Amino acid sequence: MTQRTLVLLKPDAVRRRLIGEIIGRIEAKAGWAVTALEMRELDQETLELHYGEHKGKPFYEPLVEFMSSGPVVALVVEGERVIEGLRRLAGPTDPIAAEPGSIRGDFGTIVRENLIHASDSEESAIRELKIFFPGLS
Ligand code: PPS
Repeated sequence: MTQRTLVLLKPDAVRRRLIGEIIGRIEAKAGWAVTALEMRELDQETLELHYGEHKGKPFYEPLVEFMSSGPVVALVVEGERVIEGLRRLAGPTDPIAAEPGSIRGDFGTIVRENLIHASDSEESAIRELKIFFPGLS
């Protein structure tokens, strides 16, 4: 099942010079490919669209503040079962609960600075890809 997903390398990943390491792990997976990539700063409107479902939750404001604290790298990744696969490669939200070998397990420190976002379902991937890569067919 070939799928397409949205990945964001968060501001902590950029600040800590982990872009190459993380993209290397994604590309090492046979059959997965990065098909679009952009480094950019996220404005409030984009963040509201992307994280709108979490508005009102206690972590929403800290999350938006963090995600606008520096540039992110947005990627489109395509491949076999890539939506589930990237969530597993990232590890759970809280890095302390993440297994060694996962990105958050190896490099994560605190929940807020958890390095990577990956779409959590096919519907989310379609919605999020439209926000970050509107030109994609
Ligand atoms: S939920 O309620 O289960 O859907 O939430 P969850 O999937 O765990 O998290 C949704 C996004 O919020 C981020 N998050 C946080 N950011 C900052 N501070 C705290 N405490 C916090 N808790 C959760 C989490 O990383 C998710 O963002 P993405 O970009 O998807 O990783």
